[in-house]
Amino acid sequence: MATSFGSAFAKVMAMATFTDGAFDEPVLGPVEPLQLSPAAHVLHYGSACFEGMKAHKGADGTVRIFRLDAHVARMQRSCRALYLPVPDADVLSGMITDVVRANLEEVPDPPGALYLRPAMIGTEPNIGAAARASNQGMLYVLASPVGDYFDSSKTLVLGVETDLPRTTPQFGEVKTGANYAMALGVTRRYAAEHGTDQVLFAPNGEVQETGAANFMMIDDRTIITRALDSSFLHGITRDSVLTLAKEHGFDVEERTITVEEMTSRIDTAECALSGTAAVLAPVGALVVDGERLTVRDGQPGPRTTELRTALTAIQRAEAADTFGWTTP
Ligand code: COI
Repeated sequence: MATSFGSAFAKVMAMATFTDGAFDEPVLGPVEPLQLSPAAHVLHYGSACFEGMKAHKGADGTVRIFRLDAHVARMQRSCRALYLPVPDADVLSGMITDVVRANLEEVPDPPGALYLRPAMIGTEPNIGAAARASNQGMLYVLASPVGDYFDSSKTLVLGVETDLPRTTPQFGEVKTGANYAMALGVTRRYAAEHGTDQVLFAPNGEVQETGAANFMMIDDRTIITRALDSSFLHGITRDSVLTLAKEHGFDVEERTITVEEMTSRIDTAECALSGTAAVLAPVGALVVDGERLTVRDGQPGPRTTELRTALTAIQRAEAADTFGWTTP
């Protein structure tokens, strides 16, 4: 039976606990419930961050992790922002590669992949520690064999929210669960009222991102996306797509996109969402002020398909990895 994205887990996970100012040696073991005090810092004060990356089975049968170093670096930044213990890059990379190696037989064939979810949580059992960091923690890496996150047989419908941000302007770039929780209410409301798949947050009429992915507009050979600031997640897929776009002769514009500009260009411009889970998912319609606007003809656009194909070809070793993005 098909399972939903991220709800089935490969057998082996990695774990390293943090106590007395240091991480223990990481260990591999079966995926099983964590032993956590009900007073654990994470459960009360939200001290948690995570990553999302994939290991892909290549055309040659070798499994490769996509952009391991960039994900590890982002996880370290998230830990720093939340005053969580920061794992050493080599240790975290080692835990991730060990988990892939231990679950090799569970890596699905393309278009599936093994989704990797490192997480760091504050575990100090102290509900008085509201205004200080947890002095204990758990770092673990889960793996989940996945297929598409968004149904690839259809384009996405985005509600455009011009009032509320996805999360606070300072913390959008941190990969922390609270950001996803904050986007949930608006996402549910748009889904109930307008049948949308995601919400594109555009506070003050300036496009940020959706709850689960970054946003891009592609008009002929120009790709436009918000310039990096602290208000949204610095997507590694975003970076990969922009790098590939340049290689394919696109002009890349990292700048503000207003809702006004976006809606005025959708007769010709493609819209897409990028992310580890999303890959590069085509958008077919926007709901703005209750009005449904079709993006081009509502079908996946050729530029989105071109860039998605270029990306997945590198991930699956069907094309040369000229940027050194994959780790066998
Ligand atoms: C990812 O793309 O890795 C994410 O963390 C998004 C999540 C909604 C699955």
